[in-house]
Amino acid sequence: MKTIFSGIQPSGMITLGNYIGALKQFVELQDEFNCFFCIVDEHAITVPQDRLVLRNNIRNLAALYIAVGLDPEKATLFIQSEVPAHAQAGWMMTCISYIGELERMTQFKDKSSGKDVVTAGLLTYPPLMAADILLYSADLVPVGEDQKQHLELTRDLAERFNKKYNDIFTIPDVRLPKVGARIMSLQDPSKKMSKSDPNLKGFISILDEPKQIEKKIKSAVTDSEGIVKYDKENKPGVSNLLSIYSILGNISIEDLEQKYEGKGYGEFKSDLAQVVIDHLTPIQKRFKELVDSEELDEILDRGAEKANHVASKMVKKMENAMGLGRKR
Ligand code: TYM
Repeated sequence: MKTIFSGIQPSGMITLGNYIGALKQFVELQDEFNCFFCIVDEHAITVPQDRLVLRNNIRNLAALYIAVGLDPEKATLFIQSEVPAHAQAGWMMTCISYIGELERMTQFKDKSSGKDVVTAGLLTYPPLMAADILLYSADLVPVGEDQKQHLELTRDLAERFNKKYNDIFTIPDVRLPKVGARIMSLQDPSKKMSKSDPNLKGFISILDEPKQIEKKIKSAVTDSEGIVKYDKENKPGVSNLLSIYSILGNISIEDLEQKYEGKGYGEFKSDLAQVVIDHLTPIQKRFKELVDSEELDEILDRGAEKANHVASKMVKKMENAMGLGRKR
């Protein structure tokens, strides 16, 4: 059985972009693959975090993993910092990464540009991500489009390690969703929807109330043409809304174009709001039941144990390959 690894940062409320780009794929894959889904809190501290907020976000994300339909009997769900192998392997991968290739990462450029203080962790973020994936010998990594470049670097680093030391890593492939690999901001459809967007109207959080969802979709930027048609170049706002509708409503974009032919954006947007609300309501209900439960702690304890078991073996192999410690 092939193995899957993916992670999400607990760095704010999870958006519809994270859900469509990542979480929804996770749920679809759990039946067919040996899955590890991680809450990557060590990645989150590459930018400043408030400790209590971070703690809260970690727990919320864990509850959301299950609330969206991940089954801890099928997939291993765990917190990165509870498996020390990630930091250990991350350091080894950092030591085979070149500063130049890390500086070329788009995410690094975006997150560091205009900042007075840039942490070294922000630069060495990708080798830690490579470690996450390689520790579990993942064959496939389901992510949104913005993570594609990090995946390419992961493959390069794995090949470099295999060649230089010992052939121990599986070279992973990226898996992007067919529709929705890049959900855009509702306020600026040239930018991706992001949980760190200071403009709260730009993104829908999975835990938004129905009223907020309605408001945000009603005020989503479209165009003055009044035609519901998919055209990414010329109608990025409407195309983005069509993608969201298609995925959450489980209806093709062509069928949607037909359904709204001759109708304005008003009806389209209010139907879309209802589709989003109907999709998120059961997730939110389950989330509330789980978030303060002991069941959640038990799931995470079991997940950490299983992940530790697999990852610590790979760390040993890496140390042996690099000549760290004593031969045993
Ligand atoms: P993060 O936390 O920024 O995002 C989590 C996942 O959501 C996807 N995503 C989107 N997909 C579609 N449209 C959007 N607007 C959108 N915004 C985010 C991301 O592509 C991602 O799949 N570096 C990763 C976390 C990570 C990881 C890993 C992922 C750490 N280690 C190992 C895979 C494997 C990140 O920052 O994702």
